[in-house]
Amino acid sequence: MPRLAQRRTPLSTRRCQNLTGQSVHRTGVIRRYSPGMTEALPDAWLSRDPLPEDPLSLLVNWLGEAFDAGLQPNPHAMALATSNASGSPSVRMVLCQKIDRERSCLTFYTHMDSRKGKELADLPRAAAVFYWSGQNRQARVEGPVTQLPDAESDDYFATRPTDARIGAWASSQSAPISSREALLQEIERTAQRFDVSLEDPAATVPRPPTWGGYALHAETVELWVSRPARIHDRAIWHREIAPEPSLEPSTGWQVTRLQP
Ligand SMILES: Cc1cc2nc3c(=O)[nH]c(=O)nc-3n(C[C@H](O)[C@H](O)[C@H](O)COP(=O)(O)O)c2cc1C
Repeated sequence: MPRLAQRRTPLSTRRCQNLTGQSVHRTGVIRRYSPGMTEALPDAWLSRDPLPEDPLSLLVNWLGEAFDAGLQPNPHAMALATSNASGSPSVRMVLCQKIDRERSCLTFYTHMDSRKGKELADLPRAAAVFYWSGQNRQARVEGPVTQLPDAESDDYFATRPTDARIGAWASSQSAPISSREALLQEIERTAQRFDVSLEDPAATVPRPPTWGGYALHAETVELWVSRPARIHDRAIWHREIAPEPSLEPSTGWQVTRLQP
């Protein structure tokens, strides 16, 4: 009998199965052509011309369909890219809490003194991308970013569970901390300071002044849907937005079909 250590496949050639059944080498090299990319049905809206005039109603439909399909957790998760004053980009996931058709913006909530918050203070513009693997769809949104009114952030903060509200006070998001234990102690200390139990859903915890919402105003929207042989459907909508404080659209949407 070979000893266990001898039977083991060397790490460099071991494979694991990912969710779509593709073989992925632990080296990070994905060898198979991804079949999932070619199987999408033509999208009822994007596959024919003329293209729809309003990308935001399409985006709302797509997000709704991703939720209805129930194929992925957090279909409202989007990668949000910001940039520092020297033009160096950074990107992370956030949850889009609302696609606001009236204000033509996407809202998300975070710590304003985090890395992204500081970058948005320096350069108030962002780009976001959603990927819905079950529908083979991608949506990109770019534009100026503003802070939401305090009252709106207060309302949303109040809907969060007590431990998340305490956590928002206890965490200086993106700052270093010596250990996880130190973080947990800070959460305990914060709960004591507010004289609340983390398990009490009705506890009153105000919103930290440095935690709140942002609006990404949709200036450019690009929608993409996978089609066979990588001949994807892709279209971009753009409109001008007046500078702050108005941020009102100053033109209508111009739509252009793009090559895949
Ligand atoms: C699916 C998912 C959703 C997330 N949603 C949020 C969010 O809504 N707000 C937030 O501040 N961080 C969220 N995070 C954590 C961020 O990705 C990130 O770690 C954090 O905001 C700090 O980013 P920064 O240092 O670039 O500011 C989420 C992470 C994941 C994986």
